[in-house]
Amino acid sequence: MKTRAFAKINLTLEVLGIRPDGYHDLRSVVEPVSLADIIEIEPRRDGRITVETVSGGAVALDALDARPEKNLAWRAADSLRRHAGKPDAGADIFITKNIPLGGGLGGGSADAAAVLNALSVLWGLDLPVQTLAEIGAETGSDVPSLVFGRTVLMKGRGERVSSWPAETPDLPVWHFVLANPGIHSSTPAVFKEADCTSRLTSAGEITDNMRLAFSSGDPRLLAAAMQNDLTVPAQRLYPRIAEAAAALLEAGAMNAVLTGSGSTVAGVVRDAAEGEAVCRKIPGGFRAVCVSSARWCNGQHSGF
Ligand code: C5P
Repeated sequence: MKTRAFAKINLTLEVLGIRPDGYHDLRSVVEPVSLADIIEIEPRRDGRITVETVSGGAVALDALDARPEKNLAWRAADSLRRHAGKPDAGADIFITKNIPLGGGLGGGSADAAAVLNALSVLWGLDLPVQTLAEIGAETGSDVPSLVFGRTVLMKGRGERVSSWPAETPDLPVWHFVLANPGIHSSTPAVFKEADCTSRLTSAGEITDNMRLAFSSGDPRLLAAAMQNDLTVPAQRLYPRIAEAAAALLEAGAMNAVLTGSGSTVAGVVRDAAEGEAVCRKIPGGFRAVCVSSARWCNGQHSGF
């Protein structure tokens, strides 16, 4: 099976508090976008799981840990096999990486989510997406929200996920320019900095404003509703993030909002043509790509 593992951006990200286990309670609207790793996956019957990763060209893999148990795709396959009680189930997983590492785009989590969906089919499990989300939570906080393949609202550490907004079946397709400053942002370090420097917010109107943007389909409302509580702490640690945001605004994007814990910044544009124009104006020191909202059919792989 060959499929795409879509990157995500956080349209909203509220840090609501610290939990006893050291994680943070979050509320976040998560949007899959068209920048994607390619996953080729072949089932095996000898209980072996192998993962091979190559760069799709634009992505440096130096920061990739070669140990299989550190790879989120490997860990997701291993968790699924344990839950299914099928010790003989295995797979060869071949990943072509196009999503930058440490960029806040959920690349490793997207690979894990795609592997869960694919192996659920290939191993004949056909598990509901909610079950895959629960299994994915063992692999990483961003995995549950990416198994849905559509806009979701994520809560808790990341394990409580629902299709969102419930009342909008035909989701708008949004267009963004992503500017990546080419630095690897440390998620634990950014969360730690948030504890020291930020107000922890809890205002429900942030999600309400985003719901209004979705029901209107108006990119100006989307731009106005985007917000990320990790922006200030991430910019304090990595000043290049502020420069990426300034470059996006200068190039004509409607806003420039950090995704996840960084380092990528997303700006809203009206359509693909405007996205191309904005991309061309971003200075060479940043990697700029135009993306749009990406959806799988009914939470399952549509493949190619
Ligand atoms: O779960 P995951 O391994 O993706 O999380 C990476 C790190 O991000 C955690 O070790 C923690 O420092 C931070 N984190 C957090 N609160 C969350 C998610 C992640 O503090 N909800």
